[in-house]
Amino acid sequence: MSVAPTRRTREDTNVAKQIGILTGGGDCPGLNAVIRAVVRRAADAGWDVVAVREGWRGLVEPLFEELGPRQVSGILPRGGTIIGTTRTNPFKLEDGVECVLRNFADRELDALVAIGGEDTLGVAARLHAEHGFPVVGVPKTIDNDLSGTDYTFGFDTAVSIATEAIDRLHTTAESHNRVMVVEVMGRHAGWIAVHSGIAGGADVILIPEIPVDYDEVAETIRKRHARGKNFSIVVVSEGTELPGLADRGETDQFGHVTLSNRGVGDTLAHEIAERTDFETRVTVLGHIQRGGTPTARDRVLATRFGLKAADLALAGEFGQMAALRGDEIVAVSLAEATAELKLVPRDWYDVASAFFG
Ligand code: F6P
Repeated sequence: MSVAPTRRTREDTNVAKQIGILTGGGDCPGLNAVIRAVVRRAADAGWDVVAVREGWRGLVEPLFEELGPRQVSGILPRGGTIIGTTRTNPFKLEDGVECVLRNFADRELDALVAIGGEDTLGVAARLHAEHGFPVVGVPKTIDNDLSGTDYTFGFDTAVSIATEAIDRLHTTAESHNRVMVVEVMGRHAGWIAVHSGIAGGADVILIPEIPVDYDEVAETIRKRHARGKNFSIVVVSEGTELPGLADRGETDQFGHVTLSNRGVGDTLAHEIAERTDFETRVTVLGHIQRGGTPTARDRVLATRFGLKAADLALAGEFGQMAALRGDEIVAVSLAEATAELKLVPRDWYDVASAFFG
């Protein structure tokens, strides 16, 4: 038999305490699992949850919506985010921060759970440090490049999708004696390329952390073909710096260059074909990697993060982020978690490169 929770009210009124929740940055499989966990834990504690729609934009404008157990029923396996997302940066908008603080107070929110990557959580860390804003964070990104946590949710799904794509491309590569270049996501860090490349048996993996030498890449492929292998799979992160490839200068509110039309895969394929004379084709996986249902592993991680974030908010432990350390869910400071990105270290790349050629 379930017992109705006692509503936790502000001492002098009969109004339940309220947690706001927002998702910012790129969508990511598992966001809805976090939202569901926060709402369920808050409801059990007698608190209400308010959706802040479309990331920080929802506090600048404002855009609020009731979010109860009924609204989150059935969303666990759904990709994307039911409360919308944008890359809004209140620190880049005139009066943006003042609007955030005013709208938060006007809606009588007591705490905010911000789910995001380096940008969304960077804003949360600054608001907490500079204004004492009552916020806790949940680390989200398919790129897995947030420090403070061993893994972010969404990464496992993205790696599974990229690995399946590499497996499929193998059959065409073998049948046509081709070099297949696969461009995967990864703005600053090559985690998706390294993991999917290892899992998919890539012959060359190129990532933002390691400088690229076209002649070396061509030599690796030529040697492999000279050994009787007449096809190769090359995995490259979209954020990899390629010699001679200039950015087009388009940036978002966080100053990030738009990578989708940078043409890393095409440029690399062209350079490989020129140097080796092997028929070369490119596949850009793009947003396919972020779409659809999360893996079981991401659903579980997202759920554990959501419960931890709700617990931190209910306990008033602000300025913290839920994080995975080993197999434990712990709290780490938002300032620490957003201070620097977690890039692929050399020893991880060495695991991948042991199978090159
Ligand atoms: O940060 C996650 C990510 O998917 C990056 O890998 C990628 O560079 C970026 O978002 C793409 O952003 P958008 O969806 O705005 O094109």
